[in-house]
Amino acid sequence: MGVHFCGIVTISVLIFAPICLSLADGPAATAAVAGRSSSSGQINSNSVLVALLDSHYTELAELVEKAILLQTLEDVVGTHNVTIFAPKNEALERGLDPEFKRFLLEPGNLKSLQTLLLFHVIPTWVNSSEWPDHDSIESTQHHVTLSSDKLSLKGLPSGERVVDSAKVIRPDDIVRPDGVIHGIERLLVPQSVVEDFNRRRNLQSISAVLPTGAPEVDPRTHRLKKPAPAVPAGSPPVLPIYDAMAPGPALAPAPAPGPGGPHHHFDGMSQVKDFIQTLLHYGGYNELADILVNLTSLASEMGRLVSEGYVVTVLAPNDEAMAKLTTDQLSEPGAPEQIMYYHMIPEYQTEESMYNAVRRFGKVRYDTLRLPHKVMAEEADGSVKFGQGDGSAYLFDPDIYTDGRISVQGIDGVLFPVEEVKVTEMTTKTRPAKVVSKPRRGKLLEAACQMLRAFAQDSRFTTCQ
Ligand SMILES: *[C@@H]1O[C@H](CO)[C@@H](O)[C@H](O)[C@H]1NC(C)=O
Ligand SMILES: *[C@@H]1O[C@H](CO)[C@@H](O)[C@H](O)[C@H]1NC(C)=O
Ligand SMILES: *[C@@H]1O[C@H](CO)[C@@H](O)[C@H](O)[C@H]1NC(C)=O
Repeated sequence: MGVHFCGIVTISVLIFAPICLSLADGPAATAAVAGRSSSSGQINSNSVLVALLDSHYTELAELVEKAILLQTLEDVVGTHNVTIFAPKNEALERGLDPEFKRFLLEPGNLKSLQTLLLFHVIPTWVNSSEWPDHDSIESTQHHVTLSSDKLSLKGLPSGERVVDSAKVIRPDDIVRPDGVIHGIERLLVPQSVVEDFNRRRNLQSISAVLPTGAPEVDPRTHRLKKPAPAVPAGSPPVLPIYDAMAPGPALAPAPAPGPGGPHHHFDGMSQVKDFIQTLLHYGGYNELADILVNLTSLASEMGRLVSEGYVVTVLAPNDEAMAKLTTDQLSEPGAPEQIMYYHMIPEYQTEESMYNAVRRFGKVRYDTLRLPHKVMAEEADGSVKFGQGDGSAYLFDPDIYTDGRISVQGIDGVLFPVEEVKVTEMTTKTRPAKVVSKPRRGKLLEAACQMLRAFAQDSRFTTCQ
């Protein structure tokens, strides 16, 4: 599991990090929790938040969802890099006073739970190399967390790192372009929550209402059960739909089988041929199959990437959609490649993983091989809708081909990147952008290779040589 996951991580972080960074802006953080930020309401599939929800920090992820904090955190990662201190599962399962845990999960104490969780997030990037060193003058750093309380980060003479009183046991455990997660040994509890708890306990002892029973644990998921708070009739459910769903597939990309060995000996080319064959047999995708057959260079590039252990999801427009393309759009040199690259996502996604993601987050942006353009997805009519406005397309034929490395999803439209508009003044009408006319096949990989070299990782990507 570790191995193949690394492959996916490598591709998204290394290729796309510089792009994400260049999009970043904004002054130093303040506790940005109150009030929605003006972020676009979309989340990148390679966001640290998505990674957290799909990580082995399942107890923390569960609490974040129970606390209805996803939107808040999404807004924060939309404008800031974050550092998350994630208590290991055992710290939340067994290491916690049951009474305190019960207190946190009572609907009436939602605010305390939120404060507690936001205390684990700081709106800046602090990875292990930036962690204060014991010998340095500044051997302690203070950071204001999203809960507005302060945390101190220290380096000990023993070389250990601590945040307040919790040891960091897995530094840099999860790193994404917009944030880093450090595994810590125990839960961090801000003073204000301790006080809330004590007040509540005193009240309880006064009224002599003894809490009964331990927190209820769902035997299937080993997670705490908690009913959703009541909402006024007609309003959308408070808890993410995830809570209503049967425990099932994670929202993150379905795991792809890892490279066959240390040297990545997939036969990517035969996989590509295989999926083109599948498209032809499936029916309704002949145009696309044709393009892929004709553009042998594109097919072989895909094959090579797959051979090297990369994964790709192809959003395949069906024949009806392709028929709507004008000859102009297709005959410009390089246009078919550009179109195709925009339909390739460098992640292994299935219909299920994408649907779960859009259901949970509303809008999700996927990187495409047409840098730096992303394709936006959202839930619509019980399916996944890609793109915006006139240029949108629905997931039409799910999972036409899925072999763990290549996934092909049929869609009923051809997608074009939305023209770059000033972030502040989004024009309401979005039109399909004109296809870049210059022949640019290979430029994307070239760019990716340059970045990889900058990260001294080109050995993982032999196409670069
Ligand atoms: C995120 O961190 C990178 C450096 O790692 C920086 O260039 C970028 O500006 C940061 N983004 C935000 C929103 O602060
Ligand atoms: C920590 O982040 C900086 C960029 O902010 C990066 O240059 C450095 O390599 C990172 N260190 C580790 C150990 O990941
Ligand atoms: C692919 O090539 C064949 C033969 O050269 C040609 O007839 C067909 O129109 C091409 N298809 C596309 C989509 O370019």
